[in-house]
Amino acid sequence: MSHAPPNPALARANAAHTAAFGAPPASAALAPGRVNLIGEHTDYNEGLVLPFAIQHCCAAAVSPRTDSQVHILAPDLPAEQQAFAFDLHSHDRTSMRGDWASYIAGPAVLLAAIGNQKTGVNITIASDVPLGAGLSSSAAAEVSVAMALAGLWRLDLAPLDLAKLCQRAEHDFAGVPCGLMDQLASVFGQEGRGMLIDCRENAVNHIALPPSDRAVMVVINSGVRHSLAAGEYAARRAACEAAAGTMGVSSLRDATGSMIATAGLPSEQHDCAMHVVSENERVRDFAASVAEGSLAAAGCLMFASHESLRDLYRVSCAELDTLVEIARSVRGVFGSRMTGGGFGGCTVTLCDPEAAARLSREVPAAYRAAHQRECRVFPVTASVGARLTKLPG
Ligand code: GLA
Repeated sequence: MSHAPPNPALARANAAHTAAFGAPPASAALAPGRVNLIGEHTDYNEGLVLPFAIQHCCAAAVSPRTDSQVHILAPDLPAEQQAFAFDLHSHDRTSMRGDWASYIAGPAVLLAAIGNQKTGVNITIASDVPLGAGLSSSAAAEVSVAMALAGLWRLDLAPLDLAKLCQRAEHDFAGVPCGLMDQLASVFGQEGRGMLIDCRENAVNHIALPPSDRAVMVVINSGVRHSLAAGEYAARRAACEAAAGTMGVSSLRDATGSMIATAGLPSEQHDCAMHVVSENERVRDFAASVAEGSLAAAGCLMFASHESLRDLYRVSCAELDTLVEIARSVRGVFGSRMTGGGFGGCTVTLCDPEAAARLSREVPAAYRAAHQRECRVFPVTASVGARLTKLPG
């Protein structure tokens, strides 16, 4: 049992579960969202990423049933969308595609198969990770459900295998061909630390982030939901794979700038590949700059990453570009960039501690003036990864 103060998402999940299913959950887990500091659209190219788990979590509370039904409840959603049910043995995974419930059903079905489970479960989830904002609300949901069910069914899954199972669920049930970064970040997060991940080996290196008296990380949610993201994401991934194929390398991890320049690639593939190769370099340089305490240098790399995502990978949008430019004009900001898949969602800004208050004061008005939209500015801290909070007795 955790001795931390009660988590609000967990409290909501537990209360709703008990009210709906007539008994408290038998197992429950928390899994955080993430912010990626640098290394975007590199994970599925066997490249480098540097995310950290944030303080906002998804909670999953589960209990066994006697029939083979899976009943899912999400009390945070509008009333007409809160409930979803299917049979563990006769479900149609393609009919769930795109539905929020596919992110819950996927891990449940895959884990039940591993554990040879014949009887169903009740699952309640509640989340404090903003939805569709590029902070990995989906990975947080998948990982919390997988961990709570692994606890219930007493499955001893290695953390890396749990992350991979959640990724497979997202591919097969939600239909999003994501990399592994988000699930790894949610599983392996540590307080005060970022994760330098080599996605070729799936090796997670925890690295110290700047101490909070020197720098803080601020997320700004553009309020633009990334609805185009799934199709565009798959298209970028396909372009990268096609470019690697033409150059005769198994992934863009093995490509170089000069190979790309001379391969005669179609321009979209050329630009995507150039982004990936340069972004891997930026991740390396960023980690070195942070280790040396050169925050100005680290910040420049964040701006450069944003420009590459905007101009070469083309996954930014006008609102994100505006937020980065506004942040650039605020005194004490080291760097700023879009974070996550793109087409909306959030930016992440590295700044000195006094600049955080300036961002909160100055950004919303400037953003409103440019786009007639509201944004939300909040600090994020590197936090602990997924954990079971209640073991079946
Ligand atoms: C999404 C995916 C990740 C990663 C990022 C872009 O968050 O789930 O695997 O590809 O986009 O870096």
